[in-house]
Amino acid sequence: MTDAPVAIRGERASDRGAIARLTTEAFRTAPHAGGNEAAIIDELRNAGALAISLVAEQGEALVGHVAFSEIAIDGEVRGWFGLGPVSVLPDRQGAGVGAALIEAGLQRLREDGAAGCVVLGDPAYYPRFGFAVQPELVLPGVPEEYFMALAFDGAAPRGEVAYHPAFAD
Ligand SMILES: CC(C)(COP(=O)(O)OP(=O)(O)OC[C@H]1O[C@@H](n2cnc3c(N)ncnc32)[C@H](O)[C@@H]1OP(=O)(O)O)[C@@H](O)C(=O)NCCC(=O)NCCS
Repeated sequence: MTDAPVAIRGERASDRGAIARLTTEAFRTAPHAGGNEAAIIDELRNAGALAISLVAEQGEALVGHVAFSEIAIDGEVRGWFGLGPVSVLPDRQGAGVGAALIEAGLQRLREDGAAGCVVLGDPAYYPRFGFAVQPELVLPGVPEEYFMALAFDGAAPRGEVAYHPAFAD
């Protein structure tokens, strides 16, 4: 099964339980995990705020998932989105599944006319997708080097970012 090709596709209603389980499993041993990542995805979905939700399917199994939701900058919605949570099952990590999910999601955002995307995450991982620290685009309360942005057209705006309330806990 681990040799089967990995396909990236949008989530279906029948995927919801598997997405929650794989997210919980992926974050169980992750540094900086809040333990509530699966609940965040469910809350975004219930609020109609899960803008993009992609799964990685290998054989019959879901092995990865990525979510994107719209953010506000200085209280305004400006076509910017936040990447995350993103998860790959522990025994499938390091094989490019996370990168395939992230690249497909960013491509979808571009096609949909989004202005850009932010991510709160490891500075060793996300720059490979074009994310970079933008000192004037700030997520309050986190170390600057962990918060990165990717503008699809032009420069990143300045301001304070707020994620959807689903992330508040
Ligand atoms: C982060 C995650 C989604 C990446 O998925 P993946 O399929 O393992 O990643 P890829 O195979 O695309 O990329 C592997 C590369 O990224 C690196 N990498 C993966 N996760 C990393 C991390 N958290 N920090 C630094 N580097 C990381 C690997 O060392 C590897 O590097 P290399 O290409 O230079 O060899 C996955 O590791 C995961 O689910 N982690 C637990 C949950 C988590 O931390 N999510 C992100 C929160 S910001």
